[in-house]
Amino acid sequence: MATRSLTLARNLASAYPWVAAPFIIGAPMRVMAGPELAVAVSAAGGLGFIGPGNKTSETATALERARELLAMSEIPTSLQAALKSESQVLPIGVGFQTWTDDMKTAVSAIKAHKPCAAWLFAPRNGQEEFDSWAQHIREISPKTQIWIQVGTLREALLAVKSKSPPDVLVVQGAEAGGHGRATDGIGIITLLPEVADAAQSHDIPLVAAGGILDGRAAAAALCLGASGIVMGTRFLASTEARISKGYQNEVLRATDGGVSTTRTTLYNRLRGTVGWPEDFSPRTIINKSYQEQKAGVPFDKLKVLHDDALKSGDAGWGPEGRLATYAGAGVGLIHDVKDARDIVTGVRDGAVNILRDLYPKA
Ligand SMILES: Cc1cc2nc3c(=O)[nH]c(=O)nc-3n(C[C@H](O)[C@H](O)[C@H](O)COP(=O)(O)O)c2cc1C
Repeated sequence: MATRSLTLARNLASAYPWVAAPFIIGAPMRVMAGPELAVAVSAAGGLGFIGPGNKTSETATALERARELLAMSEIPTSLQAALKSESQVLPIGVGFQTWTDDMKTAVSAIKAHKPCAAWLFAPRNGQEEFDSWAQHIREISPKTQIWIQVGTLREALLAVKSKSPPDVLVVQGAEAGGHGRATDGIGIITLLPEVADAAQSHDIPLVAAGGILDGRAAAAALCLGASGIVMGTRFLASTEARISKGYQNEVLRATDGGVSTTRTTLYNRLRGTVGWPEDFSPRTIINKSYQEQKAGVPFDKLKVLHDDALKSGDAGWGPEGRLATYAGAGVGLIHDVKDARDIVTGVRDGAVNILRDLYPKA
């Protein structure tokens, strides 16, 4: 299995020539992963994804901004070469939530900016919806690779056996922050190898998402059969994340993710985010809104208190706060805010050192 995932990792690396091994990916986290974060991750030899904005129309603007930032940044020669190469793809990926994003608008942003990858997540109508998005994107931008995020073996097999299989399958464990499987998610340590075994004949690289915050977990994911490592929550505590200070402070403060985080749709409802397919719910750090709901306080009252908290700035987050604080079960492993570059290189080097030191040659 290790040799096979290494081969797939090499295939993956050849599609993204500026990326250093092991392949580190910045997840498309809604508005938190903007062009600044995505460019910083790619410039550090990873692959940064821009998250789906509040509206699909924001994607084109974000890709435009990423292009400007790449032109302005001091970027490594490998990335400069990728920008100048014949393939002419932008070395940045972009995420969409297919249940809500407008496909026509998304496709036109991809046509204009040619991101190297489009990451699809959360369909309302299952794999068919992904197939339709993949076909439209490939038609107008054949070099934009299709990444699909799944959270169960069933979804993974539907994706790899579909008529438009992804170029990369993102396997998301239940530890993940933000939205994931509402009730049938399991930990990445069992999900990933089971998917790797079952999808073996399809030769599609798998990347692992959920609970990876440092070199130790990254090394573990590689051992499980991943060809790359996705991090979301860790990048919430990066200088480039688009996140309020109060929210970021909570990501630093919270420990013991099994106790301090949970999956609940409460905060979506408080925020007025409606319509998510029932299969998905977000992992969040809990606070007063959740505790009081459990204690029986009616939703209407929680909503009033939530909307008041919205006016209180950074004080709206924290143990006494009431605002949504989406983050993964690994929050307790985050102790500082760092530049995305240092996060990428730290996790990459950490993984390599662990794997090298584990069984040193006699
Ligand atoms: C705040 C936040 C927002 C997220 N938003 C999205 C999203 O819009 N689309 C998506 O495909 N995944 C989203 N995710 C999930 C990530 O793609 C990824 O699965 C997850 O961050 C990996 O687990 P980790 O948070 O433990 O690193 C989000 C995650 C977080 C923490």
